[in-house]
Amino acid sequence: MANRGNWNSKIGFILAAAGSAVGLGNLWRFPYTAGNNGGGAFLICYLLSVIIIALPVLIAEITLGRFTQKNPVGAYQTIRNTWLWKGVGFIGVASGFMILSFYSVVAGWTVGYFTKSVRGHFIGITPTIAKEQFGTFAADSLFQLVLLSIFILLTIYVVSKGVSGGIEKYSKILMPMLLGILLLMLIRSLTLKGASEGVEFYLNPDFSKITAKTIVAAMGQAFFSLSLGMGTMITYGSYLSKKDNIPSAAAWVVGIDTLVAIMAGFIIFPALFSQGMNPADWGPGAMFEALPVLFDKMPLGMLFGPLFFLLLAIAALTSTISILEVPVAYFIDQKGWGRKKAACIIGAIALLFGIPSALSQGAVPALGKLPLVNTDFLDLWNFIWGNLSLSIGALMVAIFVAYVWKSQKAIAEIRGSSTFKLAPLWEVLIKYISPILIFIILLGFFL
Ligand code: PHE
Repeated sequence: MANRGNWNSKIGFILAAAGSAVGLGNLWRFPYTAGNNGGGAFLICYLLSVIIIALPVLIAEITLGRFTQKNPVGAYQTIRNTWLWKGVGFIGVASGFMILSFYSVVAGWTVGYFTKSVRGHFIGITPTIAKEQFGTFAADSLFQLVLLSIFILLTIYVVSKGVSGGIEKYSKILMPMLLGILLLMLIRSLTLKGASEGVEFYLNPDFSKITAKTIVAAMGQAFFSLSLGMGTMITYGSYLSKKDNIPSAAAWVVGIDTLVAIMAGFIIFPALFSQGMNPADWGPGAMFEALPVLFDKMPLGMLFGPLFFLLLAIAALTSTISILEVPVAYFIDQKGWGRKKAACIIGAIALLFGIPSALSQGAVPALGKLPLVNTDFLDLWNFIWGNLSLSIGALMVAIFVAYVWKSQKAIAEIRGSSTFKLAPLWEVLIKYISPILIFIILLGFFL
């Protein structure tokens, strides 16, 4: 156990967990997914998913982690040592590899776009040139691989420093910085000419747009954004001290994450609408095609541009750290590896898995349009691992905590350190509402 470590303070845990939650999921994935799925209608499905489905699962994951003090595989095994549950934990570890692989590609873009904006590549840019620039950027295989490697190396560096020495120290500085920069962006975006049209699309729900696809996208987005369903919050919970108040920590994490997603919408929607971009057409690269034009048009844009991409890179780093931490904790706990060795080897493997995603946006045309699914490799990976796999993982956590470990035992663990007045409500949510809804939504999507 000497290798495991602990958070130094409760605020350290909240910042680290919020750092994990807040990332490309909020700023890159949320706006384009909302744009593709009807704007306001998606927002409502998303908020409902967060409160009714995801928050109870978040409490379950943190509590399971703190009780067992283990990585996901070890956590399941401690309570029920069967192949089924070991397998479920293992799928979480595998999802970690896969999410890290494509996530780091987009994170690499933020670094690339940071350097492009600092070097003034966006001065006098038009929408057509911006599209071309992204095309050229994404088709440059060598540059794509360099950016992916840089990002994975940064992640390995922080994770190998360990829980409180690395993750906590960085999150403490980075999270507040990030919120400050976002606020500036928001004020700027809302005062743009034509902003109101974007706000309207974002806040005015058109319920006729809600389909099985909208709902599964909204639910998957809630899990992705809150880092649920693969064991991140089990792992982070395992470093939480026995004195901390779990429901309040969970509420803080959900509050901060949702606030940032909503703010991101208020930044991206008005910006894109003022430029006449049709939200139904937004894809993984859309943000990178659209924002340079915005920055060029706005006063102080040459300052806001680099700031924004720096902010995104920082937010992405506090998330990739938490993704890599899951397999690293597994190899430390279960295989007795050292932290540095685990971080380096797993990071290197994730890098290899990331190569097809990195080359799928123009560098290798065959990866850009896969047969049958009719989408590119990155987008496909994003959906399989970032949406379906996390939803199944979250369903399994809910079932495990409610029925295998038993919700009453979880409540006792929570009450060991704080009052939990809403325990009866949480019990109903984790036993019935959350798992049944996840199941029905997944079923509705597949049928
Ligand atoms: N929640 C992170 C984000 O929104 C992504 C993430 C997913 C992190 C799953 C950990 C686990 O960017």
